[in-house]
Amino acid sequence: MESHKPFRVVIAGCGLVGLIAAHIFSKAKIDFVILERYESPLSTRGTILAIWPQTCRILNQLGLLEAAQSILEVVETSYVISPENGKIRMKDKILSMLGQNHGYKIKCCHRPEMIKFLYDSLPEDAKARILTKKCVKDISVSDDGVEVVCDDGSTHQGSIVIGADGVRSRVRLLTQALRANTTLEKLPEDQKAPYTISYRMYFGVTPVFKDLGTGVRYDTGHNGLTTQIINGKNRAWIGVYEKLDHPTTKATRYTEADKKALVEKWGHIVMAPGWTFRDVYALQEGETGFIDLEEGLIDQRYHKRIVLVGDAIRKLDPHAGLGFNNGITDIVALANSLRRMLDENKSPSTQSIEKVFEEYQTTRAKDTKDMSELSMLLPRLLAWPTWKYKVVARYGLPYLPLTTYVAKGIMGPSILSAPVIEWLDESSLPPSKTPWKNFPTSQIKEVSG
Ligand SMILES: Cc1cc2nc3c(=O)[nH]c(=O)nc-3n(C[C@H](O)[C@H](O)[C@H](O)COP(=O)(O)OP(=O)(O)OC[C@H]3O[C@@H](n4cnc5c(N)ncnc54)[C@H](O)[C@@H]3O)c2cc1C
Ligand SMILES: *[C@@H]1O[C@H](CO)[C@@H](O)[C@H](O)[C@H]1NC(C)=O
Repeated sequence: MESHKPFRVVIAGCGLVGLIAAHIFSKAKIDFVILERYESPLSTRGTILAIWPQTCRILNQLGLLEAAQSILEVVETSYVISPENGKIRMKDKILSMLGQNHGYKIKCCHRPEMIKFLYDSLPEDAKARILTKKCVKDISVSDDGVEVVCDDGSTHQGSIVIGADGVRSRVRLLTQALRANTTLEKLPEDQKAPYTISYRMYFGVTPVFKDLGTGVRYDTGHNGLTTQIINGKNRAWIGVYEKLDHPTTKATRYTEADKKALVEKWGHIVMAPGWTFRDVYALQEGETGFIDLEEGLIDQRYHKRIVLVGDAIRKLDPHAGLGFNNGITDIVALANSLRRMLDENKSPSTQSIEKVFEEYQTTRAKDTKDMSELSMLLPRLLAWPTWKYKVVARYGLPYLPLTTYVAKGIMGPSILSAPVIEWLDESSLPPSKTPWKNFPTSQIKEVSG
């Protein structure tokens, strides 16, 4: 059945991917509304976010890259050190190598600042489409549209739902229940909690370490523990990752006492030359966090008129810093396919919509799998939890080739083949060693004359 209502997208969740979606749909002039469960989209929680070259291209297309420079920093030097005495074991060239290969250097920023930047830079009429205190509870799908019900009883109609509601996605659960024609309660356990938690992470921020270089990252690992200091321009980001004795699917809420116990246990670990975890812990300012880290990947990204993006379908270990970047790639790939469909047919049937979602799922499948595997490898290599990883890390031999392998063999191709927004121009592209595969449609025509 053809739908004759104007096409409208209902987005669940105004996190990082929801905000990028707002920018893209606003530029595409596709009608949308975003439902966010909290009072404000301006979450102050979180720590460092890595920004990869493919993301810089999207920010450029959205007209945001120049303004974003005020919150972005370059992290180019990376050391792996000994956790016992801080001696440098390896200078990891992967970050500067990726920067040279792809033109844009690897950047980072503070998550709350990126959230605020993405929100503040939205046009007023797009901001007005973000509805807060709207926690999505239920979705019904009919032949010509969707209806989303929030826990305040409000209902929201549209043509499709995009689930950008993060790691504990309600939209994912609702989709799985609809597909299985069952209720949420009756879903099998592995669908109710599809991600596994093997590590927990403590994070915080300290003033800049004057004796460590700017834009320098230090990593170390010891018996299942890995630590990280990234020394920025205005602050240093601290991360301590501890392997759990038993992997679980149930998240734990950690307390201040748990943080103290962590530093009592691991306070002697050297995180950067001259700085133990205990020293660093004493310097912290503002909010700190202690959270479980989910990892996992969902294969089925859609059902009928509902589709999932971001952490709702994939959760990555943060060491490689890929979560946000892969979430952006999801929404770009999806928006490209949607816009192509709407160019031809403004009132697509459920069947046409499913074709677009299938295309999106297929396009993203391989890269998503590769990036999940890579993200799992890094913390395990650093922390030596098993003999195999231990040998690789300890004897160093495959380590340097591994960096090259990762940069050229997995990471490189993934960056190069990331989609751009087909219908928005790219105003500039820094010279790079390895050629990009995708360009905006208008610029492909220019090149081929
Ligand atoms: C508090 C927090 C801190 C984080 N800190 C970091 C960090 O420091 N570094 C890092 O690399 N990654 C961090 N992440 C993860 C990072 O944001 C994601 O990996 C990535 O950017 C993908 O974003 P997303 O939009 O898919 O999910 P998220 O950014 O998690 O956004 C999901 C949004 O959906 C909302 N939501 C959830 N359920 C519902 C519902 N039922 N109805 C309506 N809205 C709902 C949430 O409130 C949230 O705003 C953090 C995530 C969160 C939630
Ligand atoms: C879904 O389940 C209900 C009963 O729970 C049943 O009546 C209905 O036929 C089922 N629909 C499909 C498509 O299987």
